[in-house]
Amino acid sequence: MRAVDIIQKKRDGLELTSQEIQWLIEGYVDGTVPDYQMAAFAMAVYFKGMTTWEISDLTMTMVGTGEQFDLSEIAGIKVDKHSTGGVGDKVTLVLVPLVASFGVPVAKMSGRGLGHTGGTIDKLESIKGFQVERSQKDFIKQVQEIGLSVIGQSDQLVLADKLLYALRDVTATVDTIPLIASSVMSKKIAAGADSILLDVTVGEGAFMKNIDDARVLARTMVDLGKAVGRKTVAVLTDMSQPLGTSIGNRLEILEALAILQGRGREDITTFICELAQIMLGLADVEKTAEEVREQLTNGAALKKFEAMIAAQGGDLEDLYRPSSAAHIIDVKAEQAGYITELPAMEFGLFAMRLGAGRAVKSDDLDYETGIVFEKKVGDKVEIGEVFAKIYSNEKISQELVTDFQKNVKIGDESVAVSEIIEVIA
Ligand code: URA
Repeated sequence: MRAVDIIQKKRDGLELTSQEIQWLIEGYVDGTVPDYQMAAFAMAVYFKGMTTWEISDLTMTMVGTGEQFDLSEIAGIKVDKHSTGGVGDKVTLVLVPLVASFGVPVAKMSGRGLGHTGGTIDKLESIKGFQVERSQKDFIKQVQEIGLSVIGQSDQLVLADKLLYALRDVTATVDTIPLIASSVMSKKIAAGADSILLDVTVGEGAFMKNIDDARVLARTMVDLGKAVGRKTVAVLTDMSQPLGTSIGNRLEILEALAILQGRGREDITTFICELAQIMLGLADVEKTAEEVREQLTNGAALKKFEAMIAAQGGDLEDLYRPSSAAHIIDVKAEQAGYITELPAMEFGLFAMRLGAGRAVKSDDLDYETGIVFEKKVGDKVEIGEVFAKIYSNEKISQELVTDFQKNVKIGDESVAVSEIIEVIA
């Protein structure tokens, strides 16, 4: 076989055989297919798409390019969760201990942030001493002992995705359904959980900008999961504005703690409880909304979170430390009315400029910086009222504050917001 023939076939919109897909992906991983041919292939997929069979072949070939975790030593139904990316998304930090507090084991691998989106692993690393690297043996032992662990993606898992994701990132081929579906599902399948909850974000701050594309992505991933015997459910969730009140690593840990103490904003608290109910259902544990909420207010989920932080070397005093950012600047509303738009992408990029995110993979993070919103879309503001705070270690110019204010739209009527748009099973 020759890579050029496979690229040409896809460029012309034809369906590839399993052997062609396998030959190309394995060749890419062993270095016989160079980056420039893989980049051309990714662009051909971007424009011509892939059939269900091709996506399935691609996913399973990718799974085979690395280790596969065996979680069978952990008793019970293991559940996993994955988000396709967002701004201010601290859901895992609350959801994982909440689900684990019902006795359902959660063994989760999470990623780092890139560009306008954040990553759970970076947030956890803002806690002094917290270890995100664990051997498979220690990871399993911790889940057996305390019921949960969140670690960084193993270097040995799905080698094709590591290479391909970095290439897609610099060749404008990330936001295409076949490549996102195979990237996400190859990692979920290799990570070994029995059941998978997929959070497919939709809107300005997400890869999927409209609901129709999000539905296709969700359906594709759910079918991939089911085809290999994993119970899989996807929720389409709103990412037109940042999730919750904060963006930034330490700030999001603090918001997660507030939610775990029953002091979180109502919308994100309800959203996480709804996700928990679905995730528990995936482990055959049926709980009412009230029972799930009770685990947040009675401290059971918080206790699990603290147990995980301690088990992975984190300092429990540091966990509760406020942000040490040198400057905290109030941002005031320039007119009265209701907030109608807080574009997630713009604020994700703004937080990145403060050091809370990476423009390129090698960037260092400033864990302390970011944004806290006191008002969100649908909330009323008075003229001159503080609706957000910027946390920075550099002095903030008036120009930057004006940039921030420019992105906020205020209108005369309140708009309704719903975090979960649809559930696809
Ligand atoms: N998240 C992933 O893991 N892969 C993608 O391609 C996009 C989002």
